[in-house]
Amino acid sequence: MKVHLKTYGCQMAKLDTALVTGALKTKGYSLTEHIKEADVVLLNTCSVREHAEQKVLSHIGQLKHIKKQKPDLVVGIIGCMAQRLGDDLLEDGTVDIVAGPGQIPEIIEMITKAISEKSRQVSVADNIRKAGPQNPALEDFESVYDTADKDIPGQAFVRVMRGCDNFCTYCIVPYVRGPEISRPVDKITEQVKRLADEGVKLVTLLGQAVNKYKSRYIGTAGDKTYSLADLLYKVSEIDGIEWIRFVTSYPQKDGFIELMQAMADLPKVCNYLHMPAQSGSDRILKAMNRHYTAAEYLEMLDAARQIVPDITIAGDFIVGFPDESDKYFEQTVELVKKARYKNCFVFKYSNRPGTTADNRLQDNIPLEVKKQRNYRLLEVQEKISEELSAEFLDKEVAVLVEGPSKKPHLNAAESQGRPQLVGRTADDWIVVFNGDESLAGQFAKIKITKTSPLTLFGNQI
Ligand code: 5AD
Ligand code: SF4
Repeated sequence: MKVHLKTYGCQMAKLDTALVTGALKTKGYSLTEHIKEADVVLLNTCSVREHAEQKVLSHIGQLKHIKKQKPDLVVGIIGCMAQRLGDDLLEDGTVDIVAGPGQIPEIIEMITKAISEKSRQVSVADNIRKAGPQNPALEDFESVYDTADKDIPGQAFVRVMRGCDNFCTYCIVPYVRGPEISRPVDKITEQVKRLADEGVKLVTLLGQAVNKYKSRYIGTAGDKTYSLADLLYKVSEIDGIEWIRFVTSYPQKDGFIELMQAMADLPKVCNYLHMPAQSGSDRILKAMNRHYTAAEYLEMLDAARQIVPDITIAGDFIVGFPDESDKYFEQTVELVKKARYKNCFVFKYSNRPGTTADNRLQDNIPLEVKKQRNYRLLEVQEKISEELSAEFLDKEVAVLVEGPSKKPHLNAAESQGRPQLVGRTADDWIVVFNGDESLAGQFAKIKITKTSPLTLFGNQI
């Protein structure tokens, strides 16, 4: 049996894909890149913006045609969109399996039944916000299968929290991934140890608001409640792991100084903080149910820079949130100028059915205005990124090499016929240089000879 598995979502979704891949392989399925060869097509989906859902719906449309020629093809939709839409996805007769993010441990059984019984299989959480605090099936699934990145050697993601309780008014995540749950400390450390034994050097700890991590652990040292900072100390002890990152942080003062101190203290913890502000307007932040003001957010960045002087900061913004006037948007521009991010991700507000913003507010900013604001914010950021990257000129940096560059960055003379490789610094700067492909998954030292807003170029030393 051959399975074609495609992922549409964020790092969390990619992690789910890695687990499902592990389960499929263990049960004797093989994976194929080509839909035409596949007996089963699984789409792992995202609901965070409408655009992501539209891409999946159009993929289902293509599968409908393929199924006309190949009626036995089994089509499964897993992940956030499966949880959001449930059996509505079965309506046009293309989809056979629907499994929410909490139901992925059932996927093999569902595929087997869909094939042997030729029946439709739907498994999603009934009342997801009331789901029990721990889900043993998910925890087992998570701790059994390998989460090392299949495309980038030497790297792995490890989930430390599931779900979210923050209820930012625009966000679908709390409704599709359920309540916030921190995974047990020992399960996380065991998983990281296994990954280190496999040769993983960089581990990225994942959570929707990862700095809210809190887990009680009764170990040899007694009964202790672990914060993310405590967990970083624990993970740092694991031999073989050289770099540790954590994403995404929520701007909350609680535990922040302690977290930055852990970053300063622990050489393995990368000086990198991804902490979205979402807006620079206090009025919009309030409407988003984000529990901080722009001034408080900037104070946190100041504190971070005081404790970890060379810290690199990245952010996310939503433009065109309901009632975002020109004045409010300008406040976001001001915040971006003051924050001096390495980079930021800018998203056009997308109304998500069932969220508080959908229930209470009008999506009243025209698409054209959202596009202009998106463009403008990226333009402001690009100038800052350019200034920050220029500081690397003639400096030496350590990178973890990812592999060959997908797009050619250097001209033939610059690359001297050797493959162009891509690596990243601990603080997430992308570095392009010439080198041997066998360096993938290894550390290299690079002297920077040229810079651009998002990419540094250099030579191996
Ligand atoms: N519309 C646009 N962007 C959104 N994000 C989350 N929900 C929405 C939405 N409804 C963005 C936020 C978050 C990132 C992962 O996606 O900026 O940090
Ligand atoms: Fe969504 Fe807010 Fe939770 Fe992030 S913190 S997943 S934006 S609700």
